[in-house]
Amino acid sequence: MKQFQTALDGYSLVTAQSISKHTRSAVSKFSNDQIKEGEAELALVLSLAQQAFEANAPVQDTMKALTERLQALKSKTTPMTWAHLTSLAQVHPVSSFLLQDPLTRWSFEKPRGYSGDAQLLDFIYEHPAVDVQVKAASPLGAEIYDFTRMAASAVAVRERRDLLAAHVDTVADGTENAEVLAIAAGHLREAERSNALKSNKLKRWVALDQDPISVGTVSSAFRGTCIEAVNGSVRTILGRAQKLGTFDFIYAAGLYDYLAESVAVKLTERCLQMLKPGGKFLLANFAQDIGVEGYMETFMNWPLIWRTDREVQSIIDKVKHPITDSAVTRGENGGVIYAVLTV
Ligand SMILES: C[S@@+](CC[C@H](N)C(=O)[O-])C[C@H]1O[C@@H](n2cnc3c(N)ncnc32)[C@H](O)[C@@H]1O
Repeated sequence: MKQFQTALDGYSLVTAQSISKHTRSAVSKFSNDQIKEGEAELALVLSLAQQAFEANAPVQDTMKALTERLQALKSKTTPMTWAHLTSLAQVHPVSSFLLQDPLTRWSFEKPRGYSGDAQLLDFIYEHPAVDVQVKAASPLGAEIYDFTRMAASAVAVRERRDLLAAHVDTVADGTENAEVLAIAAGHLREAERSNALKSNKLKRWVALDQDPISVGTVSSAFRGTCIEAVNGSVRTILGRAQKLGTFDFIYAAGLYDYLAESVAVKLTERCLQMLKPGGKFLLANFAQDIGVEGYMETFMNWPLIWRTDREVQSIIDKVKHPITDSAVTRGENGGVIYAVLTV
């Protein structure tokens, strides 16, 4: 598999290695037979997709079949075999069709040097900031994008953005001069949907991210509002290198999916310490088995730590900071698990 090119905060807290380590812990037996069977099945799946593209078959049907078949293959192979198969898929000729989709292409090429950057999310948000790239796609690329932007993961991410805005609004309704911190904020697109921001109800909304380009984007997009864009990382938060103050609401979306459990526990503890009494911390993590992991890990080269509700609960159970209330829920779409902790 193509490796990520950079350690996100220079200290490798969020890296491909942390994800593969998580994966390796589940490995039972490395079997040659299974590799050969997997290779044969993958070759068939990819060649069926290639033939369908070449024959101009309906793109939605081709993508649906490809996604389902990759998912079925992933679910019956060991993580080590799957890692081998993803690297084969990525060099298969069918990728020349799939990479015409601007979303698949951005994810695979990683222009920012790492997976899951804020511009990739803009393709998922169908945000005007990526209109030019979307309009420049070939007719086939546009049809594939119509599929990938409607995938379960993409629908879940758009729902997540809306839920985050609603959480911020609820906090602002219940607390005068509320202070909010978004960790791994990306482009903070949820702020565009917040009524509390529009009606100046917040004291400050700090948007922290390790990527200076995203920090710059937030800074110019929300100039003149209470939003403060800050360059920082999980490491700077854990190392208390920045004096961020205390908050009524802290949240992290699109981050825990990259964090090994030990780092997730430490970050959660630190976030709880930064809350005012009665404050809330929300973490979001993609749920396992939403049906698109196979496609994302192959053609998008976007591996994540997909967790079960029990695995999210296990992070909370290991936290050594007093919690007065906790709830683990899913959104309507079910693709993202949310934990909300109150101190
Ligand atoms: C998938 S995006 C999510 C962005 C935003 N929260 C959203 O939901 O649209 C992940 C973001 O996490 C940031 N990130 C990744 N590792 C980080 C770290 N160690 N510290 C701070 N930010 C990090 C990336 O720069 C990127 O903007």
